[in-house]
Amino acid sequence: MPKSNIAVLGAQWGDEGKGKIVDMLTPHFATVARYQGGHNAGHTVYVDGRKFVLHLIPSGILHPGIACIIGNGVVIDPQALFKEVDELARMGIDVDGRLLISEKAHVILPYHRELDVLSEARRGERKIGTTSRGIGPAYEDKIGRRGIRVCDLLGDREALAQEVRENVNARNRMIIDSTLDWKPLFDQVVAFGERMRPWVKDVSLYLAESMTQGKNVLFEGAQATLLDIDHGTYPFVTSSNASVGGVCTGLGVAPKAIGGVLGVAKAYTTRVGEGPLPTELSGDLAERLREGGQEYGASTGRPRRCGWYDAVVVRYSARINGLDAIALTKLDVLDGLPEVKLCTAYKTATGTMTEFPADLRLLAGAEPVYETLPGWTSPTKGMTTFEQLPAEAQRYIRRLEETSGAACAIISTGSDRTETIVRQHSVVSDWLL
Ligand code: IMP
Repeated sequence: MPKSNIAVLGAQWGDEGKGKIVDMLTPHFATVARYQGGHNAGHTVYVDGRKFVLHLIPSGILHPGIACIIGNGVVIDPQALFKEVDELARMGIDVDGRLLISEKAHVILPYHRELDVLSEARRGERKIGTTSRGIGPAYEDKIGRRGIRVCDLLGDREALAQEVRENVNARNRMIIDSTLDWKPLFDQVVAFGERMRPWVKDVSLYLAESMTQGKNVLFEGAQATLLDIDHGTYPFVTSSNASVGGVCTGLGVAPKAIGGVLGVAKAYTTRVGEGPLPTELSGDLAERLREGGQEYGASTGRPRRCGWYDAVVVRYSARINGLDAIALTKLDVLDGLPEVKLCTAYKTATGTMTEFPADLRLLAGAEPVYETLPGWTSPTKGMTTFEQLPAEAQRYIRRLEETSGAACAIISTGSDRTETIVRQHSVVSDWLL
């Protein structure tokens, strides 16, 4: 068992390969707990050669004996949840007794999905590029104090009927010609609650008690810091706190419960959806990264936008999250490039900036200041020690560490669990010993 609870979260715009890092660390923990987001996240796993994509349930469920928690900060689409539970059952994995869902989590209902699509259409050219899963509208209802929580599905039926009726009426007022009937939805919602009932718990209490017994927790982030509603590239963000603050609010644990924070960053940068991406590439090089890294969304299949590593972004993430270390992923995708670049500052209308700006207009016009380093001709794919890496790759990582302000304790050199370097005498080797 590691010495402390750790948070693993994205340090860029998501899809950094958190899934592999979480999978690899999970056997060292008793519990994996998701604290925000919903089924907009996607994590591809292979079990006995079968491809499986988990969106909501932590992938820790694939490891026997690990408790998996969905915290109050997560928004749950019951239909998406049941689909995952059913697929896991078909693979012989029973979630009962190991899947624990917060009674305070809010639910995504079918009208949230419709509102998501509608709101994107209304924004036109200024659309966010959401996953169309109803995430934003469900969080809007939560903050607007009209959301429906898991405990509401299990409580007084009359009170639930009133909430559903009022929500449906409000939605009908927002959508011209909409005549959604609340009663069939109410019946559906009651059925959702009954199916979820065995998994529902006070997860804050469960976590407190299990931590007291010395059982450590891995806090799993979804999306990433630059998609955080407060600290990301607003409004081109998701609607939750993906950065470390979300752990406390999204699970009901105290800040001192977080013993370490590991930021996952790709050796280059990607983004799905709209919004600025200062180091974005186009043409052959972008295509080379997209194909090499299989940069297509796990949830929506959308091609990801690709660019060079941005140290301004990761340095910002290191500050916001207090990163103890970086898990650097997909280094092997850069294999064979004649040169590699990393961005250390932006040239903007108001001068050179070394800190990440809040104003997106500055960012949209920002020109990256690059350092160019020689690439490596021999492959890094599958390497398991830092010393095996070509000298040029070692130099790239060292420079990336200096400019990002955190050490790379883990380096991933391929998609398989074994294709990983865990640096000796790093904070991660300390945590796991
Ligand atoms: P939403 O979370 O569906 O509202 O989408 C808001 C923004 O976050 C869009 O740009 C999405 O592409 C992005 N996003 C949401 N989930 C993920 C993810 O798991 N990986 C990467 N981007 C995501």
